[in-house]
Amino acid sequence: MGSAISARHLRKIYPKSASRTPALVDLTLDVPTGGVYGVIGRNGAGKTTFIRIAATQLEPTSGTLSVLGEDVTRGERTIRARIACVPQESRPLYFLRVEEVIYLYLKMRGLDAVEAHRRTNAVIDELSLGEFRHRLVSRLSGGVRRRTLCAMVLGSDADLLFLDEPTTGLDPLARREVWQSIRRASREHRTIVLTTHYLDEAEALSSRLALIERGQLVLEGAPADLRARVRYPYRVTIQGAIPRSDLEPYGQVSSIEGGYLVFTREPEARELARRALEKGLRLSMGPVSLEDIFLDVVGRPIEEDTPANGEDDEREVTAKA
Ligand SMILES: Nc1ncnc2c1ncn2[C@@H]1O[C@H](COP(=O)(O)OP(=O)(O)O)[C@@H](O)[C@H]1O
Ligand SMILES: [Mg+2]
Repeated sequence: MGSAISARHLRKIYPKSASRTPALVDLTLDVPTGGVYGVIGRNGAGKTTFIRIAATQLEPTSGTLSVLGEDVTRGERTIRARIACVPQESRPLYFLRVEEVIYLYLKMRGLDAVEAHRRTNAVIDELSLGEFRHRLVSRLSGGVRRRTLCAMVLGSDADLLFLDEPTTGLDPLARREVWQSIRRASREHRTIVLTTHYLDEAEALSSRLALIERGQLVLEGAPADLRARVRYPYRVTIQGAIPRSDLEPYGQVSSIEGGYLVFTREPEARELARRALEKGLRLSMGPVSLEDIFLDVVGRPIEEDTPANGEDDEREVTAKA
């Protein structure tokens, strides 16, 4: 099976950007057909820019991008018929009711009335929107509005779904429901491109991950491959009386409440575990989390904002959809 998305040397400089710093520097990646492709990165890394270009809403400055086998600059119409997108900033039609907005969206995408009704009901159930179905979109809270938008896209039959930070602002329960819905769409052999700055979300859902930092791809692969590429694939926490100097030889040590966190390799992790148990210390050990990997390759946590490289936050008006 070919790639759902194939990007080569993609570069984007927003015309109105004062700093002329590229939002995407030189992005080359392939999103395989089927599964969830997670795009992670800090605020301002370039995730939304990539999504908007792939969803044919924004033109790249240079480079090539093919989506579902079509070049984005030529196959726009064909691509649009086969994709569905939850944009980062979403304003679904306010004067409609929840069930209408979902149903009409599915009808507009070309489904017949029976199928559109069936899917509307299924996705309303799936995302627990039942109590809101007759409510006007303009009367919804931000979180429910976001879920409605997810319902439109996840209820569709598009081959390729773009979800740009779909769960931002949702409570933990609603987030899990969106996750379930994403998993269901993925089981239907559709391709989902998901951007998120929740690393637990990326880890829970993605079959493949791309980490973008300052418009560049810094790490890409299946979650297990990413682990294999970091210096220290294991994390060990030790609590109790042990001098830090005893731990230093095993890897990278940092202080945590009541003890230490050691990033290390597998043999050292075993040895550490053995020694800690002998001394009666409390210990936990496991593979590094995506959070740890992020910190290791980027050098700072994902929540930390990128210093703005273009103060101009004006939205470019090339969106045609
Ligand atoms: N319409 C725009 N005009 C100028 N600069 C923009 C515009 N949209 C985004 N940018 C800049 O491009 C960079 C990447 O932004 P974005 O793709 O939104 O990142 P992310 O989605 O990862 O937070 C940021 O520096 C941002 O300030
Ligand atoms: Mg974004």
